[in-house]
Amino acid sequence: MGNEPRTGASSREAASRRIAELRREIERHNRLYYVEARPEIDDRTYDALYKELADLESAWPDLVSPDSPTQRVGGAPLKGFAPVRHAIPMMSLANSYNIAEVRNFDRRVRELAGPHPLSYVVEPKIDGVAVSARYENGRFVLGATRGDGQTGDDITSNLKTIRSLPLRLDGVAPPVVEVRGEVYMPKDGFRRLNEEREEAGEEPFANPRNAAAGTLKQLDPSIVAKRPLSIVFYGVGEYRGIQFATHVELIQRMRTWGLPTPPCYWVCPDMTAIERALEELRNHRYEFPFEMDGAVIKVNDRSLYDTLGATAKSPRWAVAFKYEPDRAETVLRAISIQVGRTGVLTPVAELEPVILAGSTITRATLHNEQEIHRKDIRIGDRVFVEKAGDVIPAVVSVNIAARTGQERPFHMPLVCPVCGEPVGRREGEVAVRCENLQCPAQLKRWLRHYASRGAMDIEGLGEAVIDQLVDRGMVTSPADLYTLRAVDVATLERLGRKSAANLEAAIAASRDRDFWRVIYAMGIRHVGARSAQMLEEHFSRMEDLQRATVEELTALPEIGPVIATSIRDWFDKERNRAFLKRLAETGVTMQRRETSFAGSQPLKGRQFVLTGTLATLTREEAAERIRALGGVVASAVSKKTHYVVAGVSPGSKLERARNLGVSVLDENTFLQMIGMRTHES
Ligand code: IVH
Repeated sequence: MGNEPRTGASSREAASRRIAELRREIERHNRLYYVEARPEIDDRTYDALYKELADLESAWPDLVSPDSPTQRVGGAPLKGFAPVRHAIPMMSLANSYNIAEVRNFDRRVRELAGPHPLSYVVEPKIDGVAVSARYENGRFVLGATRGDGQTGDDITSNLKTIRSLPLRLDGVAPPVVEVRGEVYMPKDGFRRLNEEREEAGEEPFANPRNAAAGTLKQLDPSIVAKRPLSIVFYGVGEYRGIQFATHVELIQRMRTWGLPTPPCYWVCPDMTAIERALEELRNHRYEFPFEMDGAVIKVNDRSLYDTLGATAKSPRWAVAFKYEPDRAETVLRAISIQVGRTGVLTPVAELEPVILAGSTITRATLHNEQEIHRKDIRIGDRVFVEKAGDVIPAVVSVNIAARTGQERPFHMPLVCPVCGEPVGRREGEVAVRCENLQCPAQLKRWLRHYASRGAMDIEGLGEAVIDQLVDRGMVTSPADLYTLRAVDVATLERLGRKSAANLEAAIAASRDRDFWRVIYAMGIRHVGARSAQMLEEHFSRMEDLQRATVEELTALPEIGPVIATSIRDWFDKERNRAFLKRLAETGVTMQRRETSFAGSQPLKGRQFVLTGTLATLTREEAAERIRALGGVVASAVSKKTHYVVAGVSPGSKLERARNLGVSVLDENTFLQMIGMRTHES
């Protein structure tokens, strides 16, 4: 490695100075990027700073400190969370649902406060998970959940992975300050995470709050690091050596420390101003990156907090104001069925157009058949639709009084409305599914998977092209791809002659992909790239795999009964066997390549980007190995990148990879790919 530890005191001092400088600089850019959303440098420059720091720290291991930006992700999985006793309890808020209740709150406050002039602060109420973050001499030392209010869980390593949480406070920091706030999952990150989960056959999270809560409960910080979490601070627990006269002062002070605070607030001298602020905030409720479930109204003057005191659960100096979900009444004209990408049939309400939350809506979700029956929703009913938070409008209830007797109950169809094949329910699932992979509704999804980088890697076969190929009936299964000719493809919209020729070539080239890629591309439920590699190792030919029993499959490491049964079921379907036969006839690889890694170029044409520290290899060794196998190593992640190899403490490249949808390999998978580790080791 380049940075051999040097012995001289002066070089150590120089390193120590540079390390401190780099940490300050990196944290500053973190703040600009994650807290203030106005980055000053590009990813590449950021990565260079990060790398310089990581290199210096590996040369001078005794200079590594827990608040270094390189230490955000790195801790080993925990066995459990240690309890943390809150010096100042973490309370909850009393709720109010209308202006009259807020007036009562104001009256009570004024009674208790006496003739003291008062003002309030109105700020958004973030729907997330309450946490406490303790800083000692400016360093983040402890993170905790609320728990029962007295004792929470120590989630320090999980909070450290949240990039908008500074590990060190800017400016002059007090000896102790415990700031309190809300961890949330930004709405766009939540949507992406759920898509990924659905694609992987995992249960999606019900809402961003559940996703944030579920994530913070993870014992493995490296999983937390991969989830898009953010944080906002709006309060304080224990503190020493400072004072805040007002809530506004607290917020301002937190801002100067570089802590993320509510994006807006209103200082209100009286009820009229409060009402105006609540109204304004309501108008912006869908515009925040977090789900806002209401507003919080707080007494601004903190010197009154003791006088006002608290009930058993909540302080008397603040109240939550919950916005009613926007609601409208309209006629349910019909119930149509949507077939999702995963084959799930979802009933959708077709409505007489109605204005809801400022826009005209004609459709709303009905969730599933059970929900329709539970709410006794019938076709022709007058129904109430609501839009809560940012989610899709939903039919919540029926105006039973308006029934005429003409309404008709709804039944789920027995066949898929798209392909006509019988539908069914999987054991333990509420959802009704179409399992026919050749169903046009899912065919597109299968083709996208088939062509993806992790599978057959067919460049140029993107979503727009796939949609047209399927819609025009040119492709009914991946096997049809190999019969396409450039002249046919050139008739598609936005596809020139040249790209058509490239696409034909790319499809042809995919015939020679590794056997495991073909197995993975077949789209057997629960069979990921890793399982496919495992299967390739144990079955050298497709015929052998096709014959394998559930017992034989389960005997393989990492193949459990769920995967084994899924594989067996897949091969048992005549339709799938016919597909495989056709695929084999088109010349696609149906067996393990017998050439050894040495001498062959299995990574030919594949671009890698390395980030973070690997346990087994230095970066240079890893890069050499990739090149030896025909791959290319790039320094920055772009759309051309095939894989990002993420070691411990990965930098912003990892985030960029996620944003671009580039496959991320962990060390183990990477070692397998370069033939340095078998699945057993
Ligand atoms: S102040 C003593 N401000 O809502 C508790 N809480 O339903 C002081 N919350 O427990 C809390 N946004 O977890 C406050 N701007 C905000 C908030 C907020 C969300 C949460 C917090 C609280 C819960 C009460």
